[in-house]
Amino acid sequence: MRVVITGAGTGIGRATALRFAREGAHVLAVGRRLEPLAALGRGIEPLAADVTTDVDAIARAAGPVDVLVNNAATALGQPLGRITAEAAHAQVAVNLLAPLLLTQAVDLRKGGTVINVSTSTGGRGWPGRSVYAATKAGLESLTRSLALELAPRHVRVNAVAPGAIATPIADHLPPDELAALRAWQVARTPLGRIGTPEEVAEVIAHLAAAPFTTGVVLPVDGGAAVGA
Ligand SMILES: NC(=O)c1ccc[n+]([C@@H]2O[C@H](COP(=O)([O-])OP(=O)(O)OC[C@H]3O[C@@H](n4cnc5c(N)ncnc54)[C@H](OP(=O)(O)O)[C@@H]3O)[C@@H](O)[C@H]2O)c1
Repeated sequence: MRVVITGAGTGIGRATALRFAREGAHVLAVGRRLEPLAALGRGIEPLAADVTTDVDAIARAAGPVDVLVNNAATALGQPLGRITAEAAHAQVAVNLLAPLLLTQAVDLRKGGTVINVSTSTGGRGWPGRSVYAATKAGLESLTRSLALELAPRHVRVNAVAPGAIATPIADHLPPDELAALRAWQVARTPLGRIGTPEEVAEVIAHLAAAPFTTGVVLPVDGGAAVGA
């Protein structure tokens, strides 16, 4: 099995790369920084590439693909009034356009599957992170449309929608803001804790192995989607 995972050097992408490699898959691990990718180990081929500019190079390196995991993302907190066009474009390019263009460019085998990584706020509003939330809402819409377009080729397209997961994605925040974000996330998670990257990787692997499931967005969020 050949698997391509973007944003594979850290967090959910890293856990997913290790999960598939453990099953004996050949994993092409894509990210901008080579170092964390090169440290992933056996069965995992690192590729330093930017999903916004290197789509054709990634598709060429991938060859025929069984599983494409569109996981790379940029999350910038910017309240209305402080949103710059540059930051908004950057999030749209990484979180929405790259998954679309990669899905189009990659040679997906018959029986193959695409799994997009959304967020539990993809179907709701997120004050202060409106652009990020909008890109994920778009990614969920894309998941449904591409599932229909690719079904005749026997390629499935699904998404996972993680809730609060312990990864480096919010590491750029000052410690007090990060602590406030974590407290807010735990408070709105019925299971009362932050999830792990491995718990998301497990669901991605299950979706990859679910031959009659396409066009769904599956929450992995400790119940947040059905809570408040
Ligand atoms: N953690 C959470 O609470 C949470 C919740 C909901 C959804 N998610 C989603 O889960 C996914 C993974 O995020 P994470 O939490 O695991 O955070 P993360 O560890 O920061 O992972 C993001 C990865 O994307 C890569 N990346 C960013 N821009 C890229 C680009 N232009 N080209 C190639 N790679 C790029 C980064 O590596 P380089 O910097 O080396 O490129 C990084 O490894 C994202 O889609 C995120 O929106 C996370």
